[in-house]
Amino acid sequence: MRTVTLTDVFTHPIAQKYLKRSGLAHAIATAYYAYHLALRYGVNPDLATKAALLHDIGHYTWYKNGQWDYEQYKQNDIHAIKGAERAHKLLIRLGEHPQNAKEIALAILLHTDSYLPEGELKRNPLQAIVKWADEADEEPGGRHHYRTISDDLALKKIRQLDELVSRQLGKEQLGDIV
Ligand SMILES: [Fe+2]
Repeated sequence: MRTVTLTDVFTHPIAQKYLKRSGLAHAIATAYYAYHLALRYGVNPDLATKAALLHDIGHYTWYKNGQWDYEQYKQNDIHAIKGAERAHKLLIRLGEHPQNAKEIALAILLHTDSYLPEGELKRNPLQAIVKWADEADEEPGGRHHYRTISDDLALKKIRQLDELVSRQLGKEQLGDIV
């Protein structure tokens, strides 16, 4: 059983503020990709969709004269660190189990290595899925952050995804018993 739904997370004012900053449409699309990847790779879809939904909430606005400043962003960005922290705080506040909050935060922390020194990262399946889901929705020049979606449609899609996740978890539980 899930104590915290995607709808609980999505409708929280803190999530709304930061999801809108980095793009609602991208966050939702990434969550759907993560759901399908989770099913394919046998990963918990609840954790995968939450991590994917929240993966970019650590973004800062690197604007200069009304334009996104890529140089500043590249040099100073720590959105994965900030996002992991924000997501963890929000999930704990909503009543998420600390073990789940940690798994989700780690998947967000490792969804990109653009802020890390060169080297190979060994990701577990949940962490890999969030990275792939993000990349599946990426557009050149960061355009995925600017795609728009209405608040109504966004909430509708989140509720639908909640149902898919709950149904899947129900199936898995049934599978454990039978
Ligand atoms: Fe992203």
